[in-house]
Amino acid sequence: MILQRKDVLGLEEMSAEEILGVLDIANQFRAVFDRPVRSVPVMRGRTVVNFFHEPSTRTRISFELAEKRLSADIINFVSSESSFKKGETLRDTAENLAAMKIDMLVVRHSSAGAAQYLARVLDCSVINAGDGPHEHPTQGLLDIMTMRQRLGDLRGKKVTIIGDISHSRVARSNIWGLTKLGAAVTLCGPPTMMPGGLDKLGCTIEYDLAQAVKDADVLNVLRIQLERHTSRSFPSNREYHKMFGITTDVVRSLKKNAFVMHPGPMNRDVEISSEVADGPRQVILDQVANGVAVRMALIYLLSGGDPGALGGTA
Ligand code: CP
Repeated sequence: MILQRKDVLGLEEMSAEEILGVLDIANQFRAVFDRPVRSVPVMRGRTVVNFFHEPSTRTRISFELAEKRLSADIINFVSSESSFKKGETLRDTAENLAAMKIDMLVVRHSSAGAAQYLARVLDCSVINAGDGPHEHPTQGLLDIMTMRQRLGDLRGKKVTIIGDISHSRVARSNIWGLTKLGAAVTLCGPPTMMPGGLDKLGCTIEYDLAQAVKDADVLNVLRIQLERHTSRSFPSNREYHKMFGITTDVVRSLKKNAFVMHPGPMNRDVEISSEVADGPRQVILDQVANGVAVRMALIYLLSGGDPGALGGTA
């Protein structure tokens, strides 16, 4: 059994074997995308609720597509049109959905720990689609899948994560997943956006961008999460771009085969220049495509799908 768990809440709790097992299945689902018929009938009769309480483009649509391609029944909960507006609590809302006999709840929420809380009180499986600045495990998995497609085994590979580390759930899930797979993770950003203690997780902290990208195999560029800032952490967008923006000059200084990733949505010409975002060294839309495959794999495995049964299907 690849996933010995009811829920997927973060990469902190997943072993290297689980991560690699999920990615093996994701590769099989990725192959389905190149077929004229992109769906498989493995989740017929199962119901998944997408329970999003924060804006999302990529993650929500990617989960929805993954569920549709697995032939599951889907409900998209719209927080702004729900009884949330009348004061119903998160727990009451989720318990009412669960009482309607759903199989899985995909949760995005602005509070760290929201997915863990719901996983504790509900019998159905819960997948964390991003909880505040805590974790975004499916983003971490799709990032790692994209890196492995180009680099193979990540042991000893240098991955530099740049930007707003303090407020980034993407950074946290990348750090947990990548260090478990043996990658050398360097974190770079302004000191005001660098929390203490990450060196204890095995990361190298570097405040000088030129040093941080030297010899890197991958740059993973983070969005500045302005919606989570309570005070100004940098003087201006222009200043930030000058100090930490990934520009064509930065890309020219990289190793020949190094590439640039970004989880989206991008602040163009702040953390990444438009030339780089649209240029030949970025793999941003490959990340998006891999996201659907990763989510198909997780949903399939969590719902008790047999990896061995995919041979002829996926
Ligand atoms: N990468 C990501 O989580 O994007 P969304 O906020 O659009 O889902």
